[in-house]
Amino acid sequence: MSHAEADAGNRRDFLYYATAGAGVVATGAAVWPLVDQMNPSADVQALSSIYVDVSGVEVGTQLTVKWRGKPVFVRRRAPEEIQAARDVILDQLTIDKLSQNANKPDADASDANRSLDEAGEWLVMIGVCTHLGCVPIGNGAGDFGGWFCPCHGSHYDTSGRIRKGPAPRNLDVPVAQFTDDSTILLG
Ligand code: FES
Repeated sequence: MSHAEADAGNRRDFLYYATAGAGVVATGAAVWPLVDQMNPSADVQALSSIYVDVSGVEVGTQLTVKWRGKPVFVRRRAPEEIQAARDVILDQLTIDKLSQNANKPDADASDANRSLDEAGEWLVMIGVCTHLGCVPIGNGAGDFGGWFCPCHGSHYDTSGRIRKGPAPRNLDVPVAQFTDDSTILLG
């Protein structure tokens, strides 16, 4: 291999790791400590708003970023997750019927009031269980196909709404918006 080829390889490696460090894919509580080490320093964490590059998030997967000291789940939902969330009627939400969406404070917890875009592909939530603060496991965990908190057994659906267990509220949706096709501004 020539020096030029080796350099190109190194550059590719660098780009790959830089991207991985900037937006870390996490699957749940077990990997959060690892993610935590790769996050920005305290002064950066203190920023009230951050831009999140979501261009690499595949359908049916989730990116976890740290914002104001907490994990934030940025999920790009698969069609069946969206459908499951939108098939739920409010009467089925026996624990919390409010959106818990900072963008729509008084709205009900219909999936349309919790997802970021009209089609419902993107769901952004604070990844902290509303019971006592553990980080729920995602990727279809739990009885409702969304997230499951293993600490005391709270089950959240594919819209992050609490459906069973001790948690009193749906997972919180932070102030968020798309600033272009592949960038979400938190805060
Ligand atoms: S902290 Fe999640 S169920 Fe208790």
